[in-house]
Amino acid sequence: MNQAINVLGKLSKEEFLADYWQKRPVVIRNAFADFDMPFTAEELAGLALDTDAPARMIIEHGLPPENKPWQVKLSPFSEEDFTSLPDSHCTFLVNDLERYIPELGNLIEPFRFIPDWRIDDLMVSYAEDQGSVGPHTDDYDVFLIQGQGKRRWKVITREDYNQELIPGLPIALLKEFEADQEWLLEAGDMLYLPPNMPHYGIAEGACFTFSVGFRAPQTKELVQSWLETFDAVPEFKQRFTDAGRTLQANPGEIKKDDLEALSKRITDAIEKQKETIPLFLGKYLSESKGEIPIEDRQSQSETFLKNTDYERESWLRIIYIDADKDDKQLQLFANGHHIKLPKTLKKDVQELCENYYYTAQSLQKLAENNAFKALFDDLIQEGGVYPV
Ligand code: SIN
Ligand code: CO
Repeated sequence: MNQAINVLGKLSKEEFLADYWQKRPVVIRNAFADFDMPFTAEELAGLALDTDAPARMIIEHGLPPENKPWQVKLSPFSEEDFTSLPDSHCTFLVNDLERYIPELGNLIEPFRFIPDWRIDDLMVSYAEDQGSVGPHTDDYDVFLIQGQGKRRWKVITREDYNQELIPGLPIALLKEFEADQEWLLEAGDMLYLPPNMPHYGIAEGACFTFSVGFRAPQTKELVQSWLETFDAVPEFKQRFTDAGRTLQANPGEIKKDDLEALSKRITDAIEKQKETIPLFLGKYLSESKGEIPIEDRQSQSETFLKNTDYERESWLRIIYIDADKDDKQLQLFANGHHIKLPKTLKKDVQELCENYYYTAQSLQKLAENNAFKALFDDLIQEGGVYPV
């Protein structure tokens, strides 16, 4: 594992996982000591103007002439959108930041004690004084890192809070918010919040807050995506047959035999495909949200070169599964691709998954494997890895 800084203060990773993860909030003072803000508000606005990074503005008292409460503006923006913002009670947020500023992968690295497939993105918010996104809950865990300035965080930890939302707003905000915990975070401090815990962060003076957000797929999303893989099974295209049907009294009835035959089709299909679940999950969870064209990088070659160092883009997820029945093979997944590799390459695969910089030496053994070479060619062509 890379020697990332321990951002959990006095807590060990084991203690954090046992006592806080998905359970309760915790503030770590000075988690990122001497935090150096990597950009200014103007530079962040520039990023939103120049790229397709998903961004939004939240203006608590709205913009004239309507002055509608909690007005939301979504990217793409024009320069005027920025100049017309009020000097207080507004926030500008940019998601997927690590994809647009790869060096900011450094802010995610310390959280890789949680597996990569669980990590979603790095978001940043810039708020003017009193800026906030309002009192709300999120469906996922989040580490909120104070980048610059101060933000007051109010949290409701009790479970019996009023879940009613303010009607008619473009964002889901809680109608009532009586916090039972409160902290003022300063640059370098960090707050961890479990999913669904109501929180309300209000800037005290202009401030930047980074959020490392996690990904928690919904069961429905997983099932739907798995079902899509059924398209590749020709026998699932076969239609229902009912030769030998006997006369029934009422045309409106679905008879027991028909129900059973139809149900059996569904359960047989699931049973037949069950074994494909690990492979589906590996591919699905390694898929990236989309590639980012990096115009100024001219790859010297579209295929894997020996004796060359490579770097991996922070958006590229490379993950593996080591659960082969006969214990001879590993499953390696990257950006939705899948290959099998012999377990003799386990150490090399682990390093590939952990690291973002690959020396020619570290790729040497993998490079002798044809499946790996083909996978690496694909990743080069997709811009996920590039020679340096
Ligand atoms: C913010 O950075 O202002 C919002 C983060 C959050 O509440 O999830
Ligand atoms: Co939130």
